[in-house]
Amino acid sequence: MSKVTVIGAGNVGATCANVLAHKDIVKEVVLLDLVGDLAKGKALDTWQQAPIDGYSTYVRGTDNYADTADSDIVVITAGVPRKPGMSRDDLITTNAKIVSSVTRSIMEHSKNPIIIVVSNPLDVMTYAAHQASGLPDSRVFGMAGILDTARYRAFLATALNVSPKDIQAVLMGGHGDTMVPLPRYTTVAGIPVTEMIDEEQLQAIVERTKVGGGELVKLMGTSAWYAPGAAAAQMVEAIVKDENRIYPCCVRLSGQYGIDNTYLGVPVKLGKNGIEQVIELPLNDSESALLNESAGHVKAVMSVYDNMNK
Ligand code: NAI
Ligand code: 2OP
Repeated sequence: MSKVTVIGAGNVGATCANVLAHKDIVKEVVLLDLVGDLAKGKALDTWQQAPIDGYSTYVRGTDNYADTADSDIVVITAGVPRKPGMSRDDLITTNAKIVSSVTRSIMEHSKNPIIIVVSNPLDVMTYAAHQASGLPDSRVFGMAGILDTARYRAFLATALNVSPKDIQAVLMGGHGDTMVPLPRYTTVAGIPVTEMIDEEQLQAIVERTKVGGGELVKLMGTSAWYAPGAAAAQMVEAIVKDENRIYPCCVRLSGQYGIDNTYLGVPVKLGKNGIEQVIELPLNDSESALLNESAGHVKAVMSVYDNMNK
C-alpha cells in the first residue's frame, strides 16, 4: 500500500488529502505545511471523518519532512494563490522559491518519488520541481489539464442538459488563458459535440473555459479548491492503481508535437511509473498554431524563472 504526501495544507492541499482518504486506496496520507498546526488540525479532522464515511487511510498532519520519508507520490500545492486582478504568472517569484525548496526537502527523505505539481504558475512550477528533484521526466508532472477539461465538460453538460459523466474531452496547452480546448476531440457519449450544439454556443463555452480559473477568483477572492484538489487526487489514483488512464497533464515535451524542452499540457497515459506514454494526437493547422502559441507563452515564463536563477 502506498504512502502519499501532500505539501501545503491550504485549500487545495487539504481537499486533495480529504478526497484521497475517501478513495481509500493508500495506507497513509501525510499532509505537511509550514504552519504545522493547520496541517495537524485538517489531518485530524479528516481522520475523524473516517468512521462516518468509512475509509481506513490514515491522514497525518505535520511540519516535519522526516514524516514524509519514503513517500511513493508527493503532491505539491504549497505557495500563494491568485487574488482578483492577478494572473497565475504574477505568482512566479514567490512560488518558484517555495516549490524549489519544498522539492529539495522531499528529495532528502524519499529516493524515487513521483511528484505531481499543483502550485502556479503551473507549467513553470513543474519545471522548477523537475530541476530541483533531478528525477526523470516521467516522474515529475503537473495537474491542470484535468481541471481545465472538467470545467469545459461541466459547462457543456449545463448547456446540453446532460450528465457531465457523458462528456469526454481533451484540452491541451499551458494552464493559462492560452490553453487549447479541442472541440474536434469532444464527444457526448461518443457523439461528436458539434452534432449537439451550435458553433456560437460552443465557442462561448471554449472562451469561458479559458478564463474559468479567473471566474472563480472573482467570485471568491481566491482561487478554486474543490475541483483542483479532486483532480490531483484522481492523478494519484491512476498511479496507485496502475490504471493507465489517459488524462491531460503538464509534462516536459522533448520533441513531441514539434516542441522541445517545454512544459505543456498534453494527453498522457498515467500508470505506476508516472507518465507511461505521451500521446501525440493529430492536430490540424489551427490547433497546432494555438498549441505553439501556448508553448511560446510558457517558454517566456520559463525564461523568467531561468533569469531568477542566474
Ligand atoms: P492556500 O493559500 O490555501 O494554501 C497554500 C498553503 O501552502 C498554505 O497553507 C501555506 O502555509 C502553505 N505553504 C506556503 N509555503 C510553504 C512551504 N514553503 N512549505 C510548506 N507549505 C507552505 O492556497 P491554495 O488555494 O491551496 O492554492 C495553492 C496553490 O495551488 C496556489 O499556487 C494556486 O495558485 C495553485 N492552484 C493551482 C491549480 C492548478 O490547476 N494547477 C488550481 C488551484 C490552485
Ligand atoms: C485555477 O485554474 C487558479 O489555477 C487555478 O483555478
